[in-house]
Amino acid sequence: MEERRLTEVFKWLHRHPELAMKERQTTAYIRNILAENGVRLMDTGLDTGLIAVLGTGKGPTVALRADMDALPVQEATGLPYASECPGVMHACGHDFHSACMLGAALLLKERESSLPGTVKVIFQPAEEVNHGAALMISTGLLNDVRLFLTGHTYPWYSAGTLGIRPGPVMATADRFQISIRGKGCHAAHPEQGIDPIPAVGAIITAVQTIISRRTDPFASAVVSITRLEAGNTWNVIPETAVMEGTVRSMTSAVRDSIRQSLKQVAEDTARAFGCEATMEYEYGPGPVVNDKGICERAEETARQLGLHVEMNPPAMIAEDFSEYLKMAPGALFRIGTGGGYDNHHPAFTADPAAIFPAARFFAVLAEKELAQLQE
Ligand code: NI
Repeated sequence: MEERRLTEVFKWLHRHPELAMKERQTTAYIRNILAENGVRLMDTGLDTGLIAVLGTGKGPTVALRADMDALPVQEATGLPYASECPGVMHACGHDFHSACMLGAALLLKERESSLPGTVKVIFQPAEEVNHGAALMISTGLLNDVRLFLTGHTYPWYSAGTLGIRPGPVMATADRFQISIRGKGCHAAHPEQGIDPIPAVGAIITAVQTIISRRTDPFASAVVSITRLEAGNTWNVIPETAVMEGTVRSMTSAVRDSIRQSLKQVAEDTARAFGCEATMEYEYGPGPVVNDKGICERAEETARQLGLHVEMNPPAMIAEDFSEYLKMAPGALFRIGTGGGYDNHHPAFTADPAAIFPAARFFAVLAEKELAQLQE
C-alpha cells in the first residue's frame, strides 16, 4: 500500500468519527480494505472491532494494537477533511492509529510467507471509556500473544519523531466517592445537628497530605477532588455531603497505598467532626509499563528507519492498553504528529505525514520481535 492511499484512509476515518461501541462504519471500512488485500480476519463475534492475522501459522505470535473510537467533541480544526458528524470528533488521533496499523498490516502482508511467526493486528473499540481492550481480550483470540505493541499520537513532537521510554509511561486512573453523613438541622442552630460541611473542608486539605507526607517524593501520584455536593438551600444544614475525584499514579503499589490512606484520612477526619464517612473506590486502568528490551530494540529499529528518537516524558493520563500488558510484556510509543494542540482539544490535529513512517516502524519491529522470540 502506498503512502498516498494510507493518507486517504486516515482522512476518511477523520471525516467519519464514531463514539465508543458505535464504531460500526469504521469496522466495516477497515474490514473491507483488509479483505480486498487478502488479509485474513478472525471472527471476534463482536459488533465492533476486528483482528487481522498475518503469518504462516508457525512460530510465536505478537500483536499490534490500534483503537478506533472518537470523542464527543465539536471539531474546530478548520481542516478540509473535518468531521462530518456534529459533536463527534477524532480528537485523540484514533483515526491516525487505525490508519497506521492498517498500513502496518498491509506491509506485513507483502512479507507474509517469510514472517518468522504470526502478527495479530487488533483494531479495538471503546478505548476512551476503558472498555475495549478487555472486550478484545475476552474473545480469547489473543491468548497466544507473547508481546503487545502500540503507538499514540503526540502533538509535542513533529512527524518523523518517535518517543520511546522504558518503564512506566502512563498512569493508573481510579475513581473514588466519599460520602459524609452528619445530622441535618436549621442553619441558625448548628448545635442541634452535625454539620458535614466543615468535615468536607478538612478532608479536602488532609487528602493532599497523602501525596506530600505519605508518598515517596520520587514516586509520582495525584489526588484530585473534582466534584462536591451538599445541601440544596441557604438556611438548612444538610444531612450529607458527597465528594468525588480521581487517584493517578505510575505503579500499582503506590495506587494501593493511596487508596488505603484515602479511606483512613476520610473516615478519621470525618469522625473528628462527629460525622461518618464511607468511601467507594473503583479501579480504572492499570499503569502502562514499557518493557526495557523491547524499547531498546525499538530505538535501534527507529534509527535504522531514519526516525528521530526522543525520550518522551511519562503522562498522568491512562490507557486501556494496560489490560493487554497484564497478559504479556509490551510497549507504547509516542508518535510525533505535530499540530500543537493537546489530545482531546477541539483543535487537535495529527499530521498525515507521520502515518507511513510509523506504519513501517511497527511492521519492521513486529517482525524483529518475532525473530527475537524464536531465538
Ligand atoms: Ni487516545
